[in-house]
Amino acid sequence: MTDKARPDRQPTFSKADRANLRWLWRDYLKARAPWLGLVLLMILVQGLVYQQFLSMTESGLRVIFESGSLRDLAVVCAGVFFLFAVRGLMSYLVPLVTVRLSNEAIFEIRRDLIGHMMSLDLAYFERTKSGEIIHKLVAQTQQLGVFFGLATAGAVRDAVTVVIVSGYLIWKNPVLFTAAVVVLPFIIWVMNYVSDRVKLAQGQAEQALGDYMNGIEETVNGMRTVKIASQEQVEAGRLMKGTGAIRDLMNRVQTTQALVMPSIDLSSAFVYVLVIGGGGYMVLSPDFDVDGAGIITFLLGMVMVFDPARLLAQYFGALQSNLVLLDRVRGLYDQTPTIRDAPDAVVEFDIAGDIVLDDVTFAYSPDHPLFDRLDMTFRGGQVSAIVGATGSGKTTILSLLSRLYDVQGGRITIGGQPIDKLKVARLRGAFSVVAQDIVIFNNSIWENIRYVNPEASDEEVWRAAENAEIADLVRSRGDAPVGPKGAQLSGGQKQRIAIARAFLRDAPILLLDEATSALDQATEERIKSALDRLTQGKTTIVVAHRLSSVTHADRIFVLEAGQLVEQGRHGDLLAGGGLYAQLYQAQKKGYDGR
Ligand SMILES: Nc1ncnc2c1ncn2[C@@H]1O[C@H](COP(=O)(O)OP(=O)(O)OP(=O)(O)O)[C@@H](O)[C@H]1O
Ligand SMILES: [Mg+2]
Repeated sequence: MTDKARPDRQPTFSKADRANLRWLWRDYLKARAPWLGLVLLMILVQGLVYQQFLSMTESGLRVIFESGSLRDLAVVCAGVFFLFAVRGLMSYLVPLVTVRLSNEAIFEIRRDLIGHMMSLDLAYFERTKSGEIIHKLVAQTQQLGVFFGLATAGAVRDAVTVVIVSGYLIWKNPVLFTAAVVVLPFIIWVMNYVSDRVKLAQGQAEQALGDYMNGIEETVNGMRTVKIASQEQVEAGRLMKGTGAIRDLMNRVQTTQALVMPSIDLSSAFVYVLVIGGGGYMVLSPDFDVDGAGIITFLLGMVMVFDPARLLAQYFGALQSNLVLLDRVRGLYDQTPTIRDAPDAVVEFDIAGDIVLDDVTFAYSPDHPLFDRLDMTFRGGQVSAIVGATGSGKTTILSLLSRLYDVQGGRITIGGQPIDKLKVARLRGAFSVVAQDIVIFNNSIWENIRYVNPEASDEEVWRAAENAEIADLVRSRGDAPVGPKGAQLSGGQKQRIAIARAFLRDAPILLLDEATSALDQATEERIKSALDRLTQGKTTIVVAHRLSSVTHADRIFVLEAGQLVEQGRHGDLLAGGGLYAQLYQAQKKGYDGR
């Protein structure tokens, strides 16, 4: 049969698999070669013990059948006991060393995966399900470690046993051994069949598991929305669908794997019958120089070979699944960050200079262009405002400034320095941001504020908290964590934590994206005056829907669907009678009419 006849067949050891194994060896195992060598040595000793056992058994049986000397028998018994004591010691030492080696390797694989993950662009996390990443870092890596550690050491021991014991049997009785291995092609065929199927199903199962974890995470996180919309049944149904899919896939993987054992059992029955029948004939016939002790020992040897051979076959079945896992884990490295330090990146730039968007083109996806040759200048040390309808691109502009995404055309400069020529950490360090979607960690409020500036002194944190009008809450809640994603806080409380972070960070460029939208008017007024002090001498860009809150800005930019349609001071824009004037009048009417 050619591969062409089965286009969907996954080659048992594809080129990718070989490359992945080389990677595993080179990066995580090679450095441990001396220890691995020691393990191998101990395994060899285990194999030799079996061979010695066979040869002693044969002598022991002859003693019984022929000489009848009790003393000789006692010597043989003592020898056998000693041999198994040695094997027992090795059976203790091999796993002991192996688990240490493999756990250390898992640790390093995870460490590198985490390091690489951290370097990836924000865009990667916006298109990848978090369940997939969790599954990779938790389950897949663990399973790989166990497989390539203990399971592989076991397989090597089995292989060594098979080779040594069969070698001994061939030497003893080549004819009988050849007769016994006629079943080998059949076993190989079964193994091939099984490993192909297992590999295919395992790939699908891993994908399904990642999706499943993601579904659980989404449902759990969105429980508030789920409950308000009374969608518990729908969500449960969705999860149950994944649960069912995993059950079916696991059934497929494991029922296929289950084929291995019975086929080997059947083949061993065939072999035993052959050895007993053929061997018996050899003893009875005067043409062969074989005695009863020889045949009994041979049969014992076959039994000793078959068990490890069976385990070895199982190992190769599992190997296919683990090659798929290995491919998935290493797959993270196919993702490469695009936003990183240029080779000639510098740290020097005029932080107080103008921020200029020059001919900027940007789209989140090719089929939805957002900015086409956009020009904007935010003056250094002044307050600029961006207004415009929802979805017009305001937040995106702020994201582009700190290189959360890279522009696809044109460039952005600060003080004349293109931002992609700056060290990323240096660039981002120049910004204090109050983002529209605030991220709160499950920690105390105090720690949440300190997050943006871990070196800050206690007084500095307190001052930031006072300025953001959240000090009372910090005091009353103390060290209590605020729940996953700050679930135990109100919207306005989260927003004040974000503002406190901006105060604490005190970077030269301040980005405020709807920073006070969730606050009552009195609190907003108090925070505003503190914020005004903060913005003194800093380049500030404010995004706001409530136009009354940006009237004081030195320059206001009006966006409409990614286009800059107007810019100027509040008074000029009003007098111009354009989009800004219309929006302002409409909002004013809304307030007056209340
Ligand atoms: N991470 C993203 N991936 C893909 N598209 C996005 C992403 N973020 C925003 N968009 C799209 O880009 C456009 C501009 O979004 P942006 O968040 O900049 O708008 P905005 O002006 O800040 O709106 P709002 O006033 O509602 O905050 C929208 O059409 C939005 O759907
Ligand atoms: Mg926005």
